[in-house]
Amino acid sequence: MNSYILMIGGYSFVNDKKNVNENSKNEQLEQFRVEDQGKDLTTNQGLKMSEDEFSLKAGERGPTLMEDFHFREKLTHFDHERIPERVVHARGFGAHGVFELYESMKEYTRAKFLQDPSVKTPVFVRFSTVNGARGSSDTVRDARGFATKFYTEEGNYDLVGNNIPVFFIQDAIKFPDLVHAFKPEPDNDIPQASTAHDTFWDFVANNQESAHMIMWIMSDRAIPRSFRMMEGFGVHTFRLVNEEGKAHFVKFHWKPILGVHSLVWDESHKLAGIDPDFHRNDLWNAIEKGQYPEYELGVQLLKEEDEFKLGFDILDATKIWPEEMIPVKIIGKLTLNQNVDNFFAETEQAAFHLGNVVPGIDFTNDPLLQGRLFSYLDTQLIRLGGPNFHEIPINRPVVPFHNNQRDGYHRQTINKGKVNYHRNSLAGNTPSPVSPENGGYESYQEKVEGKKVRARSDSFKDHFSQATLFWNSMTETEKQHIVEAFQFELGKVKSVSVKQQVVDMFANVSLELAKNLAEYIGVNPPTSGGSTVKASSPALSQMNTVKSPKTLTVAVIVTEGFNGPNLKYVLDQLTSNGIQPKIISETIGEVSGTNGMKVNAEFTFLTAKSVQFDSVYIVRASVKSQTFNKQAANFIDEAFSHYKPIGANPGLKEWLERNRIAGQPGVVIDDNIEQFTKELIEAISQHRFWDRKVI
Ligand code: HEM
Repeated sequence: MNSYILMIGGYSFVNDKKNVNENSKNEQLEQFRVEDQGKDLTTNQGLKMSEDEFSLKAGERGPTLMEDFHFREKLTHFDHERIPERVVHARGFGAHGVFELYESMKEYTRAKFLQDPSVKTPVFVRFSTVNGARGSSDTVRDARGFATKFYTEEGNYDLVGNNIPVFFIQDAIKFPDLVHAFKPEPDNDIPQASTAHDTFWDFVANNQESAHMIMWIMSDRAIPRSFRMMEGFGVHTFRLVNEEGKAHFVKFHWKPILGVHSLVWDESHKLAGIDPDFHRNDLWNAIEKGQYPEYELGVQLLKEEDEFKLGFDILDATKIWPEEMIPVKIIGKLTLNQNVDNFFAETEQAAFHLGNVVPGIDFTNDPLLQGRLFSYLDTQLIRLGGPNFHEIPINRPVVPFHNNQRDGYHRQTINKGKVNYHRNSLAGNTPSPVSPENGGYESYQEKVEGKKVRARSDSFKDHFSQATLFWNSMTETEKQHIVEAFQFELGKVKSVSVKQQVVDMFANVSLELAKNLAEYIGVNPPTSGGSTVKASSPALSQMNTVKSPKTLTVAVIVTEGFNGPNLKYVLDQLTSNGIQPKIISETIGEVSGTNGMKVNAEFTFLTAKSVQFDSVYIVRASVKSQTFNKQAANFIDEAFSHYKPIGANPGLKEWLERNRIAGQPGVVIDDNIEQFTKELIEAISQHRFWDRKVI
């Protein structure tokens, strides 16, 4: 037997490091899972209780007795159920999965999980918004967190990234200021989960290093369609170090197999009310249905000797390495294939930290990265109540840990013996350090010298070139969305001075953008500015992304008496192309068509709104109900105004013409059912039709 699970006091360790595999974390978690269903009710002490509805009283109408240990235990536990939410990224959703390597990265790193393509590493991923509180809506305009914990045979490696490749600030000492500014204003705690307020934009205008990040935040990247359809970025420049000690700079990327897609702003607003859990539902349901979200891991690599050749400072987290300059090398795939059993135990208690590294992965002197290395462990000490949160099941490595750290709140391991110090002779000087040759972590020996200064390098002072590069890389549609996002956000700002400062600042990115904003928000147009940057990076435009119909939803509006064979044909074709039809009708339940065909309506217009679907197909309106027909018309009109694909029965052509919908891009009407279905599937694959005339 070359692998076994060792049980110690209810803990399991996969004891042979070499045999960590995709199931290792699951096997470990299994030791902690509890099935309550079908069991006797007991107290936390294991005492069976005969009564759980009535407290112990002196007489049926008398006072409750102090003696009621069961009441006190139950209420006390309840009173302490809440823990602090994360200071940022409070709202999140996690899932388990597996990482598979495509090709060995031995040339660049000694990290064990990046050596052998046959090794499958279990992972846990948590997606999040940054600004909003735990109960806020999923679809707000914000960066999204994309944090991955790899449970490797060398311990946990955390890649704690975002869906935007740059950040607002360059030095971590400004992080509290940034967060204070974007969170709700302190006097009245308004607005929730939104940057559309004075203090945020005041911060932006007075911290102009934020320009590049703001361009991304105002773009469609900040309103993703799904966690399954967004990129992830490590943001900072990290180091990969190989067996010989040779290092390369590296930027990490996650590329979603389904491409990068977004909501439209109006849709994301409405979803925030109609389905605040839109992204949670989407991820949970996809995994439950076996439509496992997949992302490829990519790296951009730069030789140490090329550190100063890019024309910007690679230690500056407000800069990307344009993909056309340094291509992204795809090295592996992440598949999310298992939902959590318990949100609190797993997702809420997960603790990610950039300092969780393995040999072969190291840091750089990026001052934002350096500060993050302090912040995560520090914040988790209070959030998770003491220094032992690494013992919480979701955070445990799948390999054993041994050291002389002891005690503290919620300590669970029972460390035997007298020796809890190093160096010692009583335990043969164990636990003993491990040499780098035998897998011990050794920091990269970077030569560092300099005077102690509180200063920023001049190489960090170009705040606008890449912001303009981003603007130049957008299509007209994407630019329009950015303009509208700025208009919305600044339209909510009350201070005229702040609005003017923002306009003057963004004149350095694009005069066109700044003039447009000035006019809209009623401040003076910029008198100077403009950019000399003409370059663009096609990789930055979402219009160039992968387009696939897979997993997209179509609302199928149908009433009694529909053409059975035709609808069957369309539904079969949709599902065989990975599209998910969802039936809406007058009532929930069975709807009958010709030739004995029946479909099951999951929704009515009360429970389904067009913003919850990617496309719509109207098969048949109601013969009797004008209300239903009016609701159907509103539904289609809204989907149309969100540029979504629309399919309709030829019988409805006249109505669609009257409403100036027929004949527009992405509106499919055809007598020939085969041709119709083909065109509808093609339209759904396109996601949106931006060249449509929406009034
Ligand atoms: C100086 C800059 C930053 C500081 C001080 C900082 C600090 C924090 C803190 C205190 C948390 C809460 C952690 C917890 O309670 O478990 C957090 C969460 C998070 N941060 Fe940062 N952060 C910074 C920048 C960034 C950047 C640049 C990124 C992306 C590359 C990022 C990504 C995340 C993510 C994804 C989470 C959520 C982790 C989870 O899902 O539990 N942060 N950050």
